[in-house]
Amino acid sequence: MTKPIKRRVTVTTLHNMKKKGEKIASLTAYDASFARVMDDQGVDFILVGDSLGMVIQGHETTVPVSVDDIIYHTKAVATSCDTALLMADLPFMSYTSPQQALTNAARIMQEGGAHMIKLEGGAPQIETVRQLTHHGVPVCAHLGLTPQSVHKLGGYRVQGREQDAAQQMLEDAVALQNAGADMVLLECVPVQLAKDITEKLSVPTIGIGAGTDCDGQILVLQDLIGITPNAPKFSKDFMVENGTIPKAIKAYIDDVKSSDFPTENHCFV
Ligand code: KIV
Repeated sequence: MTKPIKRRVTVTTLHNMKKKGEKIASLTAYDASFARVMDDQGVDFILVGDSLGMVIQGHETTVPVSVDDIIYHTKAVATSCDTALLMADLPFMSYTSPQQALTNAARIMQEGGAHMIKLEGGAPQIETVRQLTHHGVPVCAHLGLTPQSVHKLGGYRVQGREQDAAQQMLEDAVALQNAGADMVLLECVPVQLAKDITEKLSVPTIGIGAGTDCDGQILVLQDLIGITPNAPKFSKDFMVENGTIPKAIKAYIDDVKSSDFPTENHCFV
């Protein structure tokens, strides 16, 4: 029997999924083998996250990750990413000006093979997002807990609990969308705030520790396969009930699509 031809997931596909109320399932990957399994199981997009600084390189934070590191891992993932959209992070200090962001995003796309670029931060990144999108770079803006700022934030904490901070995050999300962002990722954000942002935006929101009302979810691969010591509350070890890595990844995708993951146990109020 011939395999059905699968079409590449694009930014337009993801926008249409939001319009249709179809949940988006995504995961991080850093190498060809895991990316192959994810792509075969039908993940919508794969992120080469700067979390690689922690889960691959063994650092305490994402701060040491370089643009060359991201390119190296994006290249590897790109070799097995036939259907999923491939997103990659701009790492710490690689987008301190719109021009620097353009130079580094171009390298990650041209040398690494990424289709979309993620960067952290709200209002201060608006001009950078405008410039990137103006030059044809699809951007995902990462709000809430932004791990590159961990030393400034004083730890990995839920963001947007106070009314002022919540209002600021909502306004930043709208401003980033207006500047051209094609997606907004919300990390460690109270459920109600993530819901409000999701309802306000026409572009999809992707949550990690942000509740089930987001348009999609993302998890770090190592959390999903249960090998992260002291894994965060918002993650789930899908290996326990599923036994093999392909089955665990498939179960995660199915649970995101049916809104069975995350549950309220994985969320913050
Ligand atoms: O770097 C990363 O893996 C991320 C996820 C936590 C979303 O940004």
